[in-house]
Amino acid sequence: MVIFYTIAELRAYLSERKNLKRSLVPTMGNLHAGHLALMKQAKANSELVVATIFVNRLQFLPHEDFDSYPRTWDDDVEALSHAGCDVLFAPNEAELYPEPQTYKVLPDAKMADILEGEFRPGFFTGVCTVVVKLFQIVQPDVAVFGKKDYQQLAVIRAMVRQFALPIDILAGETLRADDGLALSSRNRYLSADERQQATVLSQTLRAMADAAQAPSVDVKKIEADALQAMRDKGWQPDYLTIRTQQGLQAIDPLTRQPWVVLGAAKLGKTRLIDNLEF
Ligand code: PAF
Repeated sequence: MVIFYTIAELRAYLSERKNLKRSLVPTMGNLHAGHLALMKQAKANSELVVATIFVNRLQFLPHEDFDSYPRTWDDDVEALSHAGCDVLFAPNEAELYPEPQTYKVLPDAKMADILEGEFRPGFFTGVCTVVVKLFQIVQPDVAVFGKKDYQQLAVIRAMVRQFALPIDILAGETLRADDGLALSSRNRYLSADERQQATVLSQTLRAMADAAQAPSVDVKKIEADALQAMRDKGWQPDYLTIRTQQGLQAIDPLTRQPWVVLGAAKLGKTRLIDNLEF
């Protein structure tokens, strides 16, 4: 695996390998088995796998964990080199944002100002801006994003479609611990006690999906009951909701299209998100 820190060096290397089908797996580092599965998927669908590690300040609100976001460089490099990654691009902030990034991608509010976007205003502008910039730099044929960040994947897919970017977006399945907790870099913030309780989120989503299978389903009640149940267990949920997989809009129980249940909730100081398609 070769590592580049500058756009110029990366571009020079890639320009000599134009004939190889190129994939991109963008990350913020602190890699876990979920990321490595994305890497595997990239490997299976291309001839040259490029991973990026960049903790993108633009997608963090001032009170969020940008400064404390886990940075585990040595472990990440070791893991990537064993996961079949060919090229690692790891720019610093001055390289990717040499001047204030005043030109930004503004995703459709209908998709980006709901759910995560409601509780983290500007988050998807930050994500889309850095992703488009990485797409421009790497010019991949294929890019892989995890379904764990379900709304992010949907927003990026829509961006790629609307800007006619010639990139195939592949979705990686969410990896879970044995007790059902979705793997996430932020799990490492959990205390031992919180880690035990953390399964409540995926269990609640599962219970909501089960309840929604009933012939006459009252979605509002399922959502309200779930919010209350999590509050009773000491969580602070932001949202627990059942949406259409396509567009993440409120569902009409009469037109039974594919649904997804999505949730975000804080346990102590740690905010976890998860989802389940059904
Ligand atoms: O999912 C992430 O880790 C980030 O949002 C991404 C896509 C790497 C953009 O910074």
